[in-house]
Amino acid sequence: MKIRIFANPHDAGIYAAALAEVVVAAKSRPVLGLATGATPTVFYDALVNLHRCGLDMSPVVTVNLDEYIGLPTDHGQSYHAFMQAHLFSRTNLAPENTHVPNGMAADLAAECARYDDVIRRNPIDLQVLGIGVNGHIGFNEPDDLLLSRTHVVQLRQETVAANARFFPRMEDVPRRAITMGVQAILQAERIILMAFGEEKAEIVARAVLGDVRTDVPASILQLHRDVTVVLDLQSARLLPEGKAGSAREGY
Ligand code: F6R
Repeated sequence: MKIRIFANPHDAGIYAAALAEVVVAAKSRPVLGLATGATPTVFYDALVNLHRCGLDMSPVVTVNLDEYIGLPTDHGQSYHAFMQAHLFSRTNLAPENTHVPNGMAADLAAECARYDDVIRRNPIDLQVLGIGVNGHIGFNEPDDLLLSRTHVVQLRQETVAANARFFPRMEDVPRRAITMGVQAILQAERIILMAFGEEKAEIVARAVLGDVRTDVPASILQLHRDVTVVLDLQSARLLPEGKAGSAREGY
């Protein structure tokens, strides 16, 4: 794993967007795997800036990690709406090239199978990930086993609590989601894992330095050969000096 530690999320977002630009420029039909949540907003802002400076997003295909079950796509907190607001509506991405699971599907098993097919037809060149305070990636929650394929997940209490900051009332926070499985994530050519803030420091240290464990899903990324962990000073606080020091020299 390559670790890059920045003074602040803004600088980290610019770095992550520059990595994405390299992938976009290298392929005729680049595929970006994308995340939602607070963490990647700096990445999307920087990518939009690159687009305004000339980066053509029209050949890019996007495949999102997850979506809440039961929120209509036009609900302000749906991941469809998030992606529209932060990226899709601000670039020349073609709507038909953007993919987000349908959390309103009547047949959720069929929707999971359909999404696996989308992933199969669009192998991911670069997967952008955030990390939950409990170590989840996508919504692959800590458990005895990690599921390979797209599946319906019952969100853990700590995830519901963390997501509550985006909803007016606790009872409005979705309890279930559709998420890509770990196979799709690990099959991405390159991965960027982003984490910011003091509240992520402990889980970042466990994911990066600890053993590979299904109760720390992000630790499975240690098995991938091209992962860049993009941190700010707060989220990197529990990494040993040597690691942080060498990473600081590296950027
Ligand atoms: C969102 C996702 C989640 C988030 C994680 C961190 O698409 O897949 O794994 O990346 O919950 O969320 P934030 O960035 O809001 O702390």
